[in-house]
Amino acid sequence: MVSAAFLVFSCSETKTESKKMESAPIKKGVVYQPSELAQTMRNMYVNMELVNSYLDSNQVVPDSLLVGYESMLTDTPTNPEEIGPKFHGFAKGWLSELETFRNEQTVANYNSLMNACVHCHESFCPGPIKKIKRLKLVGN
Ligand code: HEC
Repeated sequence: MVSAAFLVFSCSETKTESKKMESAPIKKGVVYQPSELAQTMRNMYVNMELVNSYLDSNQVVPDSLLVGYESMLTDTPTNPEEIGPKFHGFAKGWLSELETFRNEQTVANYNSLMNACVHCHESFCPGPIKKIKRLKLVGN
């Protein structure tokens, strides 16, 4: 069952989230529909896990894992009222870190890309920060 194995992330801290889950009636067969932005983020997370393992085994990271994330600038988010110039500043900063890593695939550049994920999340979506930090690599 794919759905059972799928990791569920959330911007809120785990405790608040589980409370919410308890009080919300769960309709059978109705699956939580993530926003476009949440979908892009999940995709980024999964792809960065792959990037991590390529890098960790000293292999060249395929370009397909490093393109297509510009949509974060225009994706519909869960909370549109939170998304403004500050978000776009972080997003552009992240995309330029991504370019740096694409051009020079070093552990240092990869880790600063992960730090750029965390920086945006500190302002907008603290829930997954611990998980994102685990994507970082120890230098080799
Ligand atoms: C420019 C800001 C920004 C950057 C950079 C960013 N994120 Fe996010 N992330 C968000 C916001 C905002 C959300 C909430 C999206 C929503 O619910 O619509 C989110 C949501 C997520 C989620 C939860 C998705 C879900 O299922 O609800 C994960 C996981 C995630 N991001 C991982 C990452 C990773 C990994 C990176 C870097 C590779 C990253 N993010 C970079 C702002 C950012």
